[in-house]
Amino acid sequence: MAVFSNGGIGIDFGSGNTTVYLEDEETVYREPTCALVSRENASEIFALGKDAHRMIGRTMQDSALISPVSDGGVADSDLAAMMILSAAEKATERRKPFEKSRLAITIPHGATRVERAALASAVQLTGAKKALIMKSSVAAAIGAQLRIERPRAHLIISVGSCVTEISILSLFGVVASRTMKTGSLAFDEAIVRYIRREKGLVIGLNTAEELKKDIGSAIAPDKPSDPVLLRGRHVRTGKPSTESVTSLDIARALEEPIRAITEALSDALYNVPPELAGDILEDGIHVTGGGALLEGFIEKLKKETQLDVFMSAHPQDDAALGAGRAASDDRLARHLINAGSAFEV
Ligand SMILES: Nc1ncnc2c1ncn2[C@@H]1O[C@H](COP(=O)(O)OP(=O)(O)O)[C@@H](O)[C@H]1O
Ligand SMILES: [Mg+2]
Repeated sequence: MAVFSNGGIGIDFGSGNTTVYLEDEETVYREPTCALVSRENASEIFALGKDAHRMIGRTMQDSALISPVSDGGVADSDLAAMMILSAAEKATERRKPFEKSRLAITIPHGATRVERAALASAVQLTGAKKALIMKSSVAAAIGAQLRIERPRAHLIISVGSCVTEISILSLFGVVASRTMKTGSLAFDEAIVRYIRREKGLVIGLNTAEELKKDIGSAIAPDKPSDPVLLRGRHVRTGKPSTESVTSLDIARALEEPIRAITEALSDALYNVPPELAGDILEDGIHVTGGGALLEGFIEKLKKETQLDVFMSAHPQDDAALGAGRAASDDRLARHLINAGSAFEV
């Protein structure tokens, strides 16, 4: 008799978002990876995920918003376990979601031994049996339907919240990988800095994120958008104040972090082992992660690398999808374990 009666559950446990994919229902559930905890005693939790995120800017004096994942690595196993379990319960609408479904959860390639152990103990604390921890770039490649089983090199660049990971994959494994601490959150921070410097207005990260999604672009627009009115605090007086910005302002604000990513990509391409370079030249680059949804991002990478650049229809779901497939397919899981891309806990 099979241990698990249902399809697998794949979880991309990112520093910004926890994305859950249910293989049976082919559905995706996403919520922010954050918790509202007591300042006095961090093990006293007031709210998790969406409920906690709603409290940004409205928190009481005695509470703080924290994430159990920092720079892509698990910092707090107990809290991580509670977040994983709570997100899976919400996604499946059942208690003990891992009783009948196998779990596969992602970890960055660059995670340290300590971070890996912390995630493994978090997974055990959720009550999941025989769960799989798998490398996020490999999970994303599977979710995006890259044929990583072939003896061919694939270059995948993942732009998450806090980190960007550039990896070369082949035969189910990671051949080379580099991680930089510039992710899509760095875009929001760059917008906050720009508006403070150029407009004398202090805005919050949430407002900056909205601007990025609404009018942001990796390439300066030919014609600026209509001005958007922003409310914030005046830098000097501290009083409430309004200013207007256009898409051109936001594109300028994003120049620096975008350049950091394109330079890292160029550098990675320059260092590709010669026997793999031909494959990448022919097949191009695959982009994944929510950060890749920035307007003009694909076009910018094409321009900078002079290569073909591809993205799936759902870059922010790729990693959870790939993990879900590995959780549901024993043969695939076996290949990943043998290639060092996954291990069982
Ligand atoms: N339409 C969009 N345009 C630009 N950025 C986006 C868009 N949708 C999501 N993002 C960004 O994607 C990031 C989250 O990506 P995600 O892959 O979930 O990260 P992680 O798994 O590291 O938490 C956020 O910084 C968010 O602002
Ligand atoms: Mg992610």
